[in-house]
Order: sequence, then C-alpha cells, then structure tokens
Amino acid sequence: MSGKEAKKETKKEANKETRQDKPLPKEGPSKSLSIEDMAVFCKRKGLVYPSSEIYGGMAGFFDYGPYGTELKNNLKNEWWKSHVQSREDIVGIDGSIISNPKVWVASGHAEQFGDILVEDLKTHERYRADVLIEEALKIQADGLSAEDLGKLIKENNVKSPKGNSLSEPRKFNLMFTTNVGPVQSEESKAYLRAETAQIIFTEFKNVFETSRLKLPFGIAQMGKAFRNEIAPRHFLFRCREFEQMEIEYFIHPKKHGECPYIDEAMAEKLMVYSAEMQEKKQEAKEMTVKDALAKKVFKSPWHAYWLATEQKWFLNLGARRENFRIRQHKKDELAHYSSDCWDLEYRFPWGWKELEGIADRSDFDLQQHMKHSKKDMSIYDEETKEKVVPHVVAEPSLGVDRSFLVFMFDAYDDDKKRGNIVLHLHPKLAPIKAAVLPLVNKLEDKAKEVYGMLKNDLFCFYDRSGSIGRRYARMDELGTPFCVTVDFDSLEKEDVTIRERETTEQARVKINDLKETLRKLVTGEMQFKDIKR
Ligand code: GLY
Repeated sequence: MSGKEAKKETKKEANKETRQDKPLPKEGPSKSLSIEDMAVFCKRKGLVYPSSEIYGGMAGFFDYGPYGTELKNNLKNEWWKSHVQSREDIVGIDGSIISNPKVWVASGHAEQFGDILVEDLKTHERYRADVLIEEALKIQADGLSAEDLGKLIKENNVKSPKGNSLSEPRKFNLMFTTNVGPVQSEESKAYLRAETAQIIFTEFKNVFETSRLKLPFGIAQMGKAFRNEIAPRHFLFRCREFEQMEIEYFIHPKKHGECPYIDEAMAEKLMVYSAEMQEKKQEAKEMTVKDALAKKVFKSPWHAYWLATEQKWFLNLGARRENFRIRQHKKDELAHYSSDCWDLEYRFPWGWKELEGIADRSDFDLQQHMKHSKKDMSIYDEETKEKVVPHVVAEPSLGVDRSFLVFMFDAYDDDKKRGNIVLHLHPKLAPIKAAVLPLVNKLEDKAKEVYGMLKNDLFCFYDRSGSIGRRYARMDELGTPFCVTVDFDSLEKEDVTIRERETTEQARVKINDLKETLRKLVTGEMQFKDIKR
C-alpha cells in the first residue's frame, strides 16, 4: 500500500462507527463477572491455564492454551497491522530479551526500577506497600514515596493481611537477573528485559540508518518482558512474565506542538481525568479531542493523538466505550524517565486500572545511552538541516495480556435466553472463524470436503459430536462467529447453512461461494444480513 493509500485507510478506520458508539453512562457498577470467574472460564475453555499447575503452579506465570493462543495472536496481528504495516511513519523491530547489562544501567532500571515493599514482621511475607494501603484505606497510593507510605501505615495503623505489624517500607528492584555463559559470577550477571522499550533505544541509530525514516517517526516492538512483581495478582493483569506492544515515537525536540495527524483524532470522545481534576477531587469529564485541546488539557497534541488512536483501536475491535477513560499521572506518580504521562484506563471488575501508559520520555533515554556508550545518537533532520537528538513525545506502551482481558470482559455474556455463555468477540479476534458441522454423522464425507476446502484460508474447527444445539453452544462459548452446517439438502443442492453467532440467524450459501463469503464476513467487508437468500 502506498503512503497516501495507507493514510486514507487510517482515516476510514477512524470514521468507522463502532457497535458501542452510544452515550457514556455515569460510572456504573463493575461487571458482574469477577476476575477469578474469568480465570476459571479461561481454563475451562482452553484459553489460559496457570503455568506448571501439575507442580502447584507458580504465581504470576500463565500458559495460553489452544484457543487463547489464537486469540492472543489475532490481537497482536491486528495491532501490528494497524500500528506498523498500515503506517508510513512507523517501523517494527524484534529485539532480544537479554542484552548487555550496561543497557539497564544506562536506562536507570538497574538502580531505580522497583516497587516499595513492606514485610509482615511475624510471618516475613512481603507485600507491595501501595497495594496494602489502597486496600486498607481505599485511597490511591501508587507512586507514593517510601517515606509517605511509611507515614500512612503508622498514622492509620495499617496491618498485614494476617493482622501483624509491618516493617518500614523499602525499595525492591523488579528486574529478574540471570547469568550468561558458563561462570556464575557478578561479571556474568545479566537482566531479563523489564520493558521492550530499551531495545528500541539501543537500536535507534541502526533502524534510522536502514529505514529511510524522517522525523517524526516511530519504532514499534512487540514481545515479552519480565518483572519480579512483589504481588502478582488479578490473573493476567499483573504477571511476572508478560508481553508488551510498545512504540517509541520520536520528534524534533522543538516540535512538541506539531502533530501532522491530529485531524484524524479531533472528533474522538475521551473520558478525561487530568491531574488537576484528581487534585481538585472533580469527576472525569467526557470531551472531544478538539475541546480538550482548546481547553489546554494536554501539554502536547501528540498525547491527545495517541490516546485517541489507542482508544479507537480497542473500540474498532469491539471493546465497549463506557469502560475506557484517560488519566494523567500526578507528579508523584511519574516514572524516573517520564516528564508527563497519561494512561488509557479500563474499568476492570476491581476498578479503573492502567491498560496502556503513554509517557513523554523526552530525550532521557537517548541521552543516557549516549553518555554510557559514548556513541552519538543524534540524527540529521532534513527539514531543519540540523543534527538533533530526537525527543520521545509519546511512548504508547500496551500490555498484550491486559488487552486480552479487555476483549474477553467486553465479549463475555451469560445469555440466559440461549442458556449458554456467548463470547461476542470481533470476528477478526475470534480464535476460530468458522465451525463445520455435519447435521448427522452420515453426512461426514460431505462435511469433511467442506472443511478441507476452508481450512487453509480460515482457522476452522470440525465438530461431529453431540446434538447440533450443543455444538452451536460450544462455539458460542469460544466466540466462533459462524457455524457451517452440512445437511441432507447439501448433497443435492451443493449448499450449506451459515449460522451467525450474534443473531443465531441462518442463511443458505452455495458451497462454491462459501470460502469467499466467510472471508468477507470475517473481515467486515460484508454483513451477514447482506447475504443473498
Ligand atoms: N516502557 C514502559 C513500560 O514498560 O511501562
């Protein structure tokens, strides 16, 4: 696709109505399904299992099962397509998980990347101090200093979950270490990456020199990261091994105010919760990007652009608008590398939580790597004809596993009328695109022929066992958007029935047209109601 076409496509995407495009309700109750119930459902349906469960499991680690792997791969592919392949200004890399430990010294992670823990003085169990305080005092404590957390614990006599006194809070580094090579010593110590971002910074010059990029541009990466969380919790929400989809977006240091893509975002509605609103104890407020920019809610249009773009990505794939808001970090919450940060938050069953952090990292990282590696990280800007060290105006940093939860929560529906659970997953995300079902076993030869015709182009599932109603219900529970039923008429008329998950309606389609019809239904080029009957 040419650059122009790509831009047109992006605009088309931006203007597309989402099925949840309806007025925002006031902050309502969280969903009825708890995160624990979601974990049970995911295990029962082969989506996600606790890792190494036969040995008692390991907190903070999970294995994706057959259908979870498909869903996760589909959401990653959709992200890569919309954030890298369809854009002329962003390229992607796939860096290593372990790199020279000096990377993490330069980035500040080796010294500063951590949470604050407290210890139960009797059982010696350790907890994240901010989480304990949030639970005990129902206030937001994320980002408070060890000193402030200690004060809150003393003043409010906060105890451990076992009812015992707590130690003074202290910093705990979250980076996992390992040894590289045959000798285990301080010299062979290395880190498992705590964010994919640093590999983008260390490869910055190589990518720039080999990609014909011009400022402003982004470098994206998807991959695993590791954090030795003190309190892994809430199923896939806070894991010790997780996956990120990150972009470092570089601009000319003097062009924070110039975002050439802002028009694409102007009409998007965002539920805004700025640092000022939080300090003044005001409620979050819905505004368009245009209004928010006019009211100077954002320091730079780039934040507005990226927040709107990221929210739209979720909504276009079927997530529910009313479960999203954007929240600015208060000064005391900012990470060591960040001068401003907004989170795209999602209303999880236990409250609004970060889904994606979008930080302004300025030139912190490139300057640090210049200082530590003694290599020049500046680039030549053709427009201003000067050498500059670009600024990262925005770092959209999204968790794959958290996104997986969002799509699952917003799709999950205990449909009392059908008597089974229905996952209303967007067909592009659904693990199985179509199930092929012979009405009775006698029709297996024909059904196998149909399955064979589809399976190389669409991920299909063949199911012959149980009543047809039971087989439909099984597919509803996995979010399969279409079921193809082969019946006795199929033998004579060379046609089959397609049953749509969303409506349970059926349409008859010639076997010769089936593959193309399903392809169009999955991509959204055709709606089910438009099938000629
Ligand atoms: N790169 C930002 C983060 O990992 O949170």
